[in-house]
Formats: sequence, structure tokens, C-alpha cells
Amino acid sequence: MNVDDCKRAAAHYAASLVESGMVVGLGTGSTAAFMIERLGERVAEGLDILAIPTSEESAALARAAGIKITTFAEHSVVDITIDGADEVERKTLHLIKGLGAALLREKIVAQASRRFVVIVDATKPVNQLGERVPVPVEVVPFGYEATAARLEAMGAKIIRPRRKLTGELLTTDNGNRILDCTFGPIEDVQALAARLDGIVGVVEHGLFPNMATDVLVATEREVEQWAP
Ligand code: A5P
Repeated sequence: MNVDDCKRAAAHYAASLVESGMVVGLGTGSTAAFMIERLGERVAEGLDILAIPTSEESAALARAAGIKITTFAEHSVVDITIDGADEVERKTLHLIKGLGAALLREKIVAQASRRFVVIVDATKPVNQLGERVPVPVEVVPFGYEATAARLEAMGAKIIRPRRKLTGELLTTDNGNRILDCTFGPIEDVQALAARLDGIVGVVEHGLFPNMATDVLVATEREVEQWAP
């Protein structure tokens, strides 16, 4: 199995957890896209759900797949959210998310969910968060250079303000910027999350401590189900 086959396997397993009548949070990214596609197939077979997407991209995929969309104005509680991740810490199941720039809506939807199922291939688990990927930090555009300086003063190495492939600065679905911040392996994820939360100009960051209720890790042989 290649990585895409593993992502698909985890996505299909997660999609099988969804039942008629549920409000479902739809994650963002390539693994979540396989899950949305599979849910669309199940909807065509009669599954009756409403979905809250975590990005404009996932909303478009959901619409194309025939999945009905709802909002928090109609439903304040989400039964299950299924989303990918960029790193999963093996012992704690803390996550880094946001390499797809959707971290703010992803965190709002995850926080409102009874169950938050994370789907990854075997390249995503790490011993310590920050080993392989930076922490994406969403900041308001006004004064983002000053916010970047505050982040650097607290020990972040800012690789770059995120840019699109065309070279332009990336704007998130919420009209903000992303600063990818490297801290190296993170000793205390909750302490770092609290420090990031305290910086004016930071809207949200990609550290998701203690949020996943299930992590489905697809290896070449099987889909493992991890719980905290
Ligand atoms: C989106 O902002 C991210 O949090 C994604 O969940 C993450 O980047 C995983 O993406 P892939 O499934 O494409 O690896």
C-alpha cells in the first residue's frame, strides 16, 4: 500500500463510524478528502446526515459529493468530527494541525464535537510534537510583522509567512495570515499553547492538546485505533 492507500483506509474506517441523524464535522486535507468522498457514497446509498465543513475547500468537496451542509446557527453540537493531522504525539495523542491552513475552523469544530476522530497514515505519529513539522500560527494581517517579532522573542524560528504556490502571501478562509513557527521538539505542549494564546495578534495556533478522542493510524497491514 502506498501513502494514499493508507490515508484512504483510515478515511473509510472513520466514515463507517457515521450514522444517520448525525451532525458531522468535515476536516480538511488530503486524508479528509477521502473521507468526504466516502461519506458522499454512503449518502447516495441512503445515509442521512448534515455536515459542518472546516474550510471552503471541504465545503466544495461536500457539495460536489451530495452531502447536505449546516451551520452552527442551526446546530451547536457536532456528533462526530473526522479530520487529518500533521503530527500525532504517540503517548498523549496531542496534535499539530494546520499545514492546510484550516486550523482555526478545525479547532472550533473539534471543540464543539462529542467525538473527534483523527485519521492519519503511519508517517504522522511522532514521539514528541515539533519533531518534523512547524506549528502553524494564524495571525491577523494588521501588524503581523510585530506579532512575528513577539513570537520570535518567545523562541520561535519563523520559517516564513505562508505563501501560495504563486508566491503571494496566503490568506486563510478567515482573512488572516499563517506564520509557520519552529520550536523544535516541544517538551510541554500545553504550556506552549498557553503562551501562544497570550500573544495579541495571534488568532489561533495548530497545537491541539487533549482534543482527539480516537486516532486511526493506517499502516501497510491494518488500521490501528488509538485512544487517550
Ligand atoms: C489542515 O489545516 C490540516 O490541519 C490537515 O488536517 C493536515 O494538514 C492533514 O493533511 P493531510 O491529510 O493532507 O496530510
